[in-house]
Amino acid sequence: MCGIVGLTGSVGERIGLVLRRCLERLEYRGYDSAGVAVVNGGVITVRKGRGKISEVDARVNFTGLNGVSGIGHTRWATHGKPSDENAHPHTDCSGTVAVVHNGIISNYRELREQLEARGHRFTSDTDTEVIAHLFEDYVKARLTALEALREVVSRLRGTYAIALLYAGEPDKVFFARNVSPLIIGLGNGFNFLASDIPAFLEYTNRVITLHDGEYGFITPGSVYVERGGEPVDVKARVRVVNWSPELASKEGYPHFMLKEIHEQPRALRDTWAGLDTDQLSKLSDLLLKARRVFITGSGTSYHAGLVFDHLLSGLMGLDTHAFNSSEYKRYVKLAGDGDVMVAVSQSGETIDTLMAVRVFRRLGVRVIAVSNIVDSTIPRESDYQLYTRAGPEVGVAATKTFTAQLMVLNALAATAALGGGVLGKDEYGLIMGELEHLPDLVNLTITSVEAKARHIASRLASKASAYYLSRGLGLPIAMEGALKLKEVAYIHAEAYPAGESKHGPIALVEGGFPVLFIATDDEYVDALEGNVMEMNARGALTIGVIPAKHQPRFGKLLSEVIQTPNVSPGALTILQSIPLQLLAYYTAVLRGHDPDKPRNLAKTVTVE
Ligand code: F6R
Repeated sequence: MCGIVGLTGSVGERIGLVLRRCLERLEYRGYDSAGVAVVNGGVITVRKGRGKISEVDARVNFTGLNGVSGIGHTRWATHGKPSDENAHPHTDCSGTVAVVHNGIISNYRELREQLEARGHRFTSDTDTEVIAHLFEDYVKARLTALEALREVVSRLRGTYAIALLYAGEPDKVFFARNVSPLIIGLGNGFNFLASDIPAFLEYTNRVITLHDGEYGFITPGSVYVERGGEPVDVKARVRVVNWSPELASKEGYPHFMLKEIHEQPRALRDTWAGLDTDQLSKLSDLLLKARRVFITGSGTSYHAGLVFDHLLSGLMGLDTHAFNSSEYKRYVKLAGDGDVMVAVSQSGETIDTLMAVRVFRRLGVRVIAVSNIVDSTIPRESDYQLYTRAGPEVGVAATKTFTAQLMVLNALAATAALGGGVLGKDEYGLIMGELEHLPDLVNLTITSVEAKARHIASRLASKASAYYLSRGLGLPIAMEGALKLKEVAYIHAEAYPAGESKHGPIALVEGGFPVLFIATDDEYVDALEGNVMEMNARGALTIGVIPAKHQPRFGKLLSEVIQTPNVSPGALTILQSIPLQLLAYYTAVLRGHDPDKPRNLAKTVTVE
């Protein structure tokens, strides 16, 4: 995730200053590099670099820039580490095109090879730079700028919000959108483009939200939008936003946690688009050849690691050891050459996980880091990196980064299962196809379960304790659900293997005690049904997160049912996480707590 802005016309202040102010309002979308390009007298000037907006501006003074039109970017690295070269805007060979981009161009390698073969010189490792060179190619072939844009859009695959300056038409900022958000802000004598409304809210509150597949340009006095070569009339889409700047940065959601839960379809789509099948094959070979596989992480990341552990050992029979990273010392004597560690950390900075990585690497273990932050310490110190592309997570409780981790780890496990002969080509194709289309099902799940989650939250809000029970692959999801409820709603919640509940925990159960059941693995549903009946017999408030196919048998038994679509167990771990996140969120709000800033917690834990 990154933030982009574009402006053409005058708001009565220097354009560099206005663009900096807009970018600062988007800094929550990324902050590892920043930059601005303006066009003045037919010449494009670019100033950019690594660091936060204020640091980059102090070095290169982009607030000093003046011009007719300009674009700006605050970056969250996906392709290419944070560096001066990889900071946006990117330019073509002649310096007459500058572009900023949010999203992932999934076919950029192929495009780059074609462009390099035609003599284009690239100066960054980003996927974005291909856009500037493609545009250059088309205008050199005597297409108009709009025609060039049309051709460029037809060549791009993946997700993008783009703002582009062309020196030949300085009063225009060109744009295109697919999946990544892009909004037009309408002014008198000026128009804005931005990833999000707060960017320009101090200048205008009249907005048009662009739809997927749309592209066009803004001038100081007009907006032109096209789709598939046909003009689109967007007049009816103009709306006036009456948000406070505070609310606006949350896109109208009352909390970042809720916004980030709702962002999961996009986060998963970007994560999928960023996966490289060659790299997955290489890493799966490493896992298959390993003597042992250690899997580590803390909190939510540990739970994602447990799902991976289950897939590798339970389904494939690999010798795995999963542990909380703070407990790594117990496993040191087992570790040596020929072993592999998978270290999961969204921030890439958690000290416990970093210590485990350092110690195990010194012992000869090769480490694969799974992180959301490109070039953070853990991936930097690891041998291999697998990135999620969830974008920055502001809420302290991990939500979208967790499901993105599950997506990456499911894809890696499926690739290893194919390599190890546990899955045939067809089964592998089905699982990968399911993961690819999961963002749509996540969207559907959010829409269909939210009201129910709010209703169940009203029954949970007065409780002091809750159990989360599951078996098999659902157990880490139960653990994650319990952690979410504990940390944001401050209700004591414990997860157990459902079979274990009879060996002690059931002693606490009396009338109205909430017990949540997560049914994930088909092979365990009979036993789970028995556990529901045991809890019912003691008057528990039984709540189930159940795939639709098991609704007939569980529907009558449970006090409350949340139904999810039917998918294979690995993908189901992602879908089942959604209602548990929503449940924790709404319970926290009903109890009067701020879910974005739970007491005593920090987003990144850098002390042992
Ligand atoms: C819970 C949560 C924490 C983190 C843990 C590890 O919602 O966010 O439990 O998962 O502190 O953080 P990372 O993944 O950054 O290593």
